[in-house]
Amino acid sequence: MAEDTNAVVEESLFDEFKEHSISEFFRKNRHMLGYSGRLRSMTTIVHELVTNSLDACEESEILPEIAVEIKKIGSETFGVNIEDNGPGIPPEFVPKVFGKMLAGSKLHRLVQSRGQQGIGAAGVLLFAQMTTGKPLKITTSTGNGTIYEMEIKMSIERNEGDVVSEKTREGFWRGTRVEGEFKDVTYNRREQGPFEYLRRISLSAPHAKITLEDPEETIVFERTVNDIPERPEVMKPHPYGLTTDELLHISRVTDSSRVSSMLNNELSRVTMKRIKELEEYVLRDTLLENYRSSVFWDTIVSCYLNFDFTKYFDIYGHYFDKKEIEDVKQLINGLPEGLGELKTYCMKYLVTQYLVQKLDDEELKEIKNHFKKKPENFMEYMDKKYLNASLLDEFRRKLKDITKSPAEFVKSLVDLAMVSDTELEKYRKAIRDLLKKNPKEMTWKDSEVIVNVLQDMDFMAPSTVGLRPIGEENIEKSLNTLEPEFLKTLTRKPKTYKGGVPFAVEVGLAYGGEAGRSGDESRKMEIMRFSNHVPLLFDTSGCGLTNAVKSVNWRRYGLRNDEDAPVTVFVNLISTHIPYTSAGKQAIASSNEENEEIFNEIRQSLMICARDLEKHISKIRKEKEEEQKRKYVMKYAVIFAEGLASITGRPKEEIEANVVNLLR
Ligand SMILES: Nc1ncnc2c1ncn2[C@@H]1O[C@H](COP(=O)(O)OP(=O)(O)OP(=O)(O)O)[C@@H](O)[C@H]1O
Ligand SMILES: [Mg+2]
Repeated sequence: MAEDTNAVVEESLFDEFKEHSISEFFRKNRHMLGYSGRLRSMTTIVHELVTNSLDACEESEILPEIAVEIKKIGSETFGVNIEDNGPGIPPEFVPKVFGKMLAGSKLHRLVQSRGQQGIGAAGVLLFAQMTTGKPLKITTSTGNGTIYEMEIKMSIERNEGDVVSEKTREGFWRGTRVEGEFKDVTYNRREQGPFEYLRRISLSAPHAKITLEDPEETIVFERTVNDIPERPEVMKPHPYGLTTDELLHISRVTDSSRVSSMLNNELSRVTMKRIKELEEYVLRDTLLENYRSSVFWDTIVSCYLNFDFTKYFDIYGHYFDKKEIEDVKQLINGLPEGLGELKTYCMKYLVTQYLVQKLDDEELKEIKNHFKKKPENFMEYMDKKYLNASLLDEFRRKLKDITKSPAEFVKSLVDLAMVSDTELEKYRKAIRDLLKKNPKEMTWKDSEVIVNVLQDMDFMAPSTVGLRPIGEENIEKSLNTLEPEFLKTLTRKPKTYKGGVPFAVEVGLAYGGEAGRSGDESRKMEIMRFSNHVPLLFDTSGCGLTNAVKSVNWRRYGLRNDEDAPVTVFVNLISTHIPYTSAGKQAIASSNEENEEIFNEIRQSLMICARDLEKHISKIRKEKEEEQKRKYVMKYAVIFAEGLASITGRPKEEIEANVVNLLR
């Protein structure tokens, strides 16, 4: 009987089974788009429309002029109008831009832009419609003599935009103006409101002129740079950080007819010469894979690795805990997959070896504890206390050679009679066949093999052409408005993170003056976060940028503690795809476990700036101490000179001058 009841329940459950549109989903989850809290919702409206205007102007190489108007039009209703001098939107696209979620020109390209999802504009319309029931009014023209005025509503079930009314008039004007009415919003000049948002966006887009007309007055954020930034370029994924899934996806959409030409056409820095090399690397890994669980594994590993971990553990093993040694052994067993992580340990060991040989017992005792810390923490400590950049570079170079070249590896196997010529030829043919394959037929395994060897090969760093930093000089100009006593900015070279996506980090450190935010008694550390030049004002604690800043041990760099310091930390992450934690785009997904390349790069850049800050702070401290000493000398010199003058009968002034000279 019980079985029968269950069957009935299941049936009725599936009676309710329905499909929903993406707009329906966001109607129910508007907080995911940043529409939660009255002030935050207002900032989100401004943010979505202003970033669209800036993106459109930059793509069309127009110096942006953006006017934001915020009016109170009812006891709880606000009107928001935003106008730009951008390229305009062709009328047939207007309903799609504002009425359809996941539609836009940016989602499918690896281009650095503020928007990337195709949701922002439609989100603004959805929010207007949900709170006032009114459409958005769009006035736009591409400058061809016709100006379109359209009212758009969203059909939520269909995820489509509907034109409520449409008018055209003649006139020569180019740009886009969006007008809407919203409830559940408010306006004030607090830190998370539109005023601060626009102030910050003008710091990171110094070529834009932005006017804000709020209920009190009109404020103009003038441009400080008159050059139009170069147009952002489409970039291809870089082999470093490419994932199996990403390469498989590329194989399904590419026009190339062979795997080899696909690698050459669709990835950056992969030349035909590199693809020839890749054949040898694949051969090496195939051979390695073959012997994985055989009795010859240790021999094979010694032919594969240049670094003798066993010998190393015999000499230095007592510095590390047993668990770490076990972990490393596991990584060796899992080769070639664990190679990246193995390199981190290897770096630690190279440093340990160097220090053990160089330092005396006292110093070794002090750092012995740190040998047991995680490799990255240990490295940071050592980097700061004992090592210099050129030494670390030397270790990094050594690290590149942790594995033998494929030719050497194959040769040692042949010498040991582990593999015959016929077998080798069989493997080589299979690899050639893989590279000749039609990409559409590529399997998960094929993709995995290629992605693994790409990580181990040498490629030039991603090109700088596609990424558009704000630039050290411009960040300096912006931060100088705080009149700090110390300022350092740094724009780093591009790197890649998961998926082969290029990114670069820019940081600035301002100390003293108006830097930091005012706290109860003293100034506190202020973190200004930006991604692709857009200020991030919300979700501070869940953001990878904040966490990277906080992970730096600021006390080591002369600050009293992490919080209590007159410091403004400026971080801008630029990339062709920013890994946001949610569709609201206010926090970055990066930590020492996820997209750690970004996390580490921010830490590194900040630590470079912090080293100079430390020099500055200790110079100031020394100067203060000197000054104190001088005051003491002066105070006692007078008393001392008086005494001596009365004993010797010589003039007091002469003795005083001599005493001061003597004590200095
Ligand atoms: N002011 C504008 N001028 C010209 N084109 C615009 C303007 N605003 C939006 N667009 C076009 O409409 C598309 C959709 O904008 P929307 O904000 O929805 O998405 P997005 O900017 O691509 O990504 P995101 O959701 O991350 O903001 C954009 O990709 C762009 O092509
Ligand atoms: Mg957008």
